[in-house]
Amino acid sequence: MSPAPSAAIHPDVRRVLFDEGVLRARARELGRRITGDYAGRRLLVVGVLKGSLMFLSDLLREIGAEVDVHVDFIAVSSYSGAASTGTIRVLLDLRENPEGRDVLVVEDIVDTGLTLSSLTETLRARRPASLEVCTLLDKSVCRKVPFSPKYVGFEIPDEFVVGYGLDYDERYRQLPYVAILRTPNDGQ
Ligand code: IMP
Repeated sequence: MSPAPSAAIHPDVRRVLFDEGVLRARARELGRRITGDYAGRRLLVVGVLKGSLMFLSDLLREIGAEVDVHVDFIAVSSYSGAASTGTIRVLLDLRENPEGRDVLVVEDIVDTGLTLSSLTETLRARRPASLEVCTLLDKSVCRKVPFSPKYVGFEIPDEFVVGYGLDYDERYRQLPYVAILRTPNDGQ
């Protein structure tokens, strides 16, 4: 029998940083923290499309019934290929009104901080009761603007990563792990 598709490492991958087990375990820890912080409250969880999709689904499963969770999505444009354009555009807006609500933005990665500082500014203008950010990955060494998410899955070095929702030109999102891609200099 051939192995399950997720068992094989993609040939374009140089190194797996976080495998499925590690990612699920960290989502569990963050989910428990969030459950404790928002117990007895209503929480609007805003997934930033598309990169947060796998992390969001793992994280949601770990937020306990003590929290009245509502889920919404927002999509912003930030990157083309591997280079930051530094500007964001809201491509798909929330359907829920965040005014007066506790809002938790769930993102895949914070790099320069430009996307989230701009996105949180946009959301703050809509007067939520509170606004926090949970990111799976944080490349804090790459910040161009100060930005500190309250909940961070993993701190990572300045490497371009893919998988578990993260893409390179829309590819590799389906990989169940977070990995660094091979570059032409890596050879075979
Ligand atoms: P920032 O505005 O530089 O903080 O970038 C945030 C966005 O850039 C993320 O939501 C990702 O879509 C994208 N991004 C930044 N670094 C990476 C990476 O290493 N892999 C995939 N996407 C990335």
